[in-house]
Amino acid sequence: MSNSVTVRKAALDCLEKLQHPNCRISPLVRQVSQQLQPVDLKLFHELVYGTIRWQGQLDWVLSNFVPQRFRLQKRVQNILRLGAYQLLHLDRIPVHAAIYETVELAKPKVKTARFINAVLRNVSRQGDELSLPDPVEDPLNGISISLSYPKWLIKRWISDHDLGWTTGFCRASNLVAPLTARVNTLKISRQDLIEQLAAEGVNAQPTTISPEGIQLTGVNDLGRLYTHEEGFFQVQDEAAQMVSHLALPEQTCQPQSVVDLCAAPGGKTTHLAQLMGNKGRVIAMDVSKEKIKLIEQNCQRLGVQNVETVVGSALDSEIDFLSFADVVLVDVPCSGFGTLRRHPDIRWKKKPNQISELANLQLQILCNVACQIQRGGIIVYSTCTIEIEENQKVITQFQHQYPNFIVDPAGAILPSAEQNTFTVEGYWQTFPHLHHMDGSFAARLIKT
Ligand SMILES: C[S@@+](CC[C@H](N)C(=O)[O-])C[C@H]1O[C@@H](n2cnc3c(N)ncnc32)[C@H](O)[C@@H]1O
Repeated sequence: MSNSVTVRKAALDCLEKLQHPNCRISPLVRQVSQQLQPVDLKLFHELVYGTIRWQGQLDWVLSNFVPQRFRLQKRVQNILRLGAYQLLHLDRIPVHAAIYETVELAKPKVKTARFINAVLRNVSRQGDELSLPDPVEDPLNGISISLSYPKWLIKRWISDHDLGWTTGFCRASNLVAPLTARVNTLKISRQDLIEQLAAEGVNAQPTTISPEGIQLTGVNDLGRLYTHEEGFFQVQDEAAQMVSHLALPEQTCQPQSVVDLCAAPGGKTTHLAQLMGNKGRVIAMDVSKEKIKLIEQNCQRLGVQNVETVVGSALDSEIDFLSFADVVLVDVPCSGFGTLRRHPDIRWKKKPNQISELANLQLQILCNVACQIQRGGIIVYSTCTIEIEENQKVITQFQHQYPNFIVDPAGAILPSAEQNTFTVEGYWQTFPHLHHMDGSFAARLIKT
């Protein structure tokens, strides 16, 4: 098999696995990448991420060429999506190559291969001429099909925000996110790391808001970089970096005891430990025993020594270390819609009722922590979603139940951030189309 067929076959296998609700795109792609040649990784990533991102639009295009009475097998449907994605979204692959290599995936089933060949030829000839629903006359279908999102999400976002906001957010969330990392200042300065990365052929630029952030370009395989292996940096979006700064402001004296309750894989845990200069105590808890191992691996690689890991639930009524914690970070499980650039599959996996279920869980976790921490203690509640129901509404409901908690305004704590990253209520909030980072939300709450 030629390399290009191997890459498409690997991409097709991923697309099939990703139909499973519990399969997550980044670990899967990382695992399959290990079996491919470095030279093939770019195309492989593009095929998997691109096809999943544009799946809704591709299905609509294909529905114009596949008679409705045909009930396609899942594999055939995914081969067609893969082919249509190359024809409609990738300029550098010649049409005949895209069709030929994709049809190969159906062999030895001759009839299926002929059918796929015929449909893809029609897509290549007429796919660009199809007229999409007019986004002004029919915004719901217009945005849903042209930008490839499920209708229920578009409806929800137009109602929570407006049409312009929704279009901007959907467009930005379809872009490929930059590779952003946090310099591990326990081991190296930002400037020294930028120079070391340059020696490895990687360009790195400082981020504008996070003092430890860098944006990397020219990385083919992160795992093979010496600087990564040595623990000089941790991949982490700039928005996520700012949450730890909200928990541990530079201008206050450093607390002795910090708890991170939903901690795995440890992006923020290791940042908190770093900000504390490897001193004091960071207790990192997570309900998943498997994921706790990831925190431990990250601590090991980054040279973090002040973290203790605990397997347990943030819903437990007696979490003994909460009573003496100075700061508690609650980075709750959420719908994750702020990270669509990195996880395009979640738009197809999440169902409408899950948002309210998550919001209930988030409120329960927050209330459970609230009654166990000491007076003067601080909770930082954070998510990587843009859903008002999981963000502002959770805090409003929480404050109804716990009026003794006040919001410590984020604007006074994060002076390097632009004013438009703070809400009128004093929360930190970012969106990819406005701030060029992941969508995120954080509220700093003090128990009075
Ligand atoms: C958004 S992720 C946390 C990301 C992490 N803070 C970081 O920066 O790398 C949410 C985590 O909450 C964990 N989780 C879910 N339910 C939980 C519970 N009841 N108690 C503790 N952890 C929970 C999940 O296993 C998941 O690792």
